Amino acid sequence: MDQYRNEISRAAELLMRTRNAVAFCGSGVSEESGIATFRDPGGIWDRINPMEMGTPEGILSVLYKNPGRVFPVFMELLDVFEQADFNPGHHALAEFENRGILRKIITQNIDNLQQEAGSTAVIEVHGNLFRLVCTSCGKKIKVDRKPFVSSLKAKLAAIREFTLPALLELAPRCGSCGSLMRPDVVMFGEAVQELPHAFSAARGCEVLLVLGTSGVVYPAAEIPFETKKRFSDIIVINPNENAFSDITDVYIPLKTGLALPAILDAMKKLK
Ligand code: APR
Ligand code: ZN
Repeated sequence: MDQYRNEISRAAELLMRTRNAVAFCGSGVSEESGIATFRDPGGIWDRINPMEMGTPEGILSVLYKNPGRVFPVFMELLDVFEQADFNPGHHALAEFENRGILRKIITQNIDNLQQEAGSTAVIEVHGNLFRLVCTSCGKKIKVDRKPFVSSLKAKLAAIREFTLPALLELAPRCGSCGSLMRPDVVMFGEAVQELPHAFSAARGCEVLLVLGTSGVVYPAAEIPFETKKRFSDIIVINPNENAFSDITDVYIPLKTGLALPAILDAMKKLK
């Protein structure tokens, strides 16, 4: 990490002098919590075909025609979501918010880990897996991630056959109208959530942290370009190439769980 000492100090200086930074996060921020990213080798889209299962209709059709094919991946993902905890990168972002530096965190992640790390100003453009929405009346309820996943796993283990009707039997029901509830997440072809709120935060900030995202999925990937139109500084933390190299002011090719705490330490030394 020493070889990026200058970039880390530069990022610390930029963050020290603002009360209006925003973070734009992708699945890379949760990778060190054990949750696979989507497009890295062995990522989620290597295991599940997004063209086939990236939409609600696609999931229902695969569960109807060939549920046995998805059962193992489904159970593996449940294990991951049951065991995951927020990592030092999430924690550092919550600390930046506590210090009044980070005004908003725009996340594409649906795992709730940033909130569990203590962040409160989170804009979830792709929704939250642990917020359920009624398929009829739109009522939304939050669930507690680990107990919810554990109980779902126990119910799945108890059913004789993993079929669509058996799954629908298990699905939570709305307390108001009794209809089926589903995770309040944005699937392909569905409207992104809170986009105007995200764009306005991105346009208004002085520094944008772009963290752990390949920047290939629009409209969310537009966000850093919106910030750049205002000539604000852009800090990118990502071990690999990504879509923002032309608008990056400080590039730190490290994992966020390493780089963000290092920036926080550097800030403490600048005091
Ligand atoms: N720290 C920082 N970056 C990391 C880390 C890490 N520990 N591990 C991986 N990365 C980087 C990868 O180099 C990659 O650029 O995170 C990025 C993850 O990219 P994707 O897998 O494309 O995930 P993301 O950018 O979040 O995808 C956006 O696509 O399929 C949709 O809804 C899905 O929200 C998701 C959206
Ligand atoms: Zn309802």
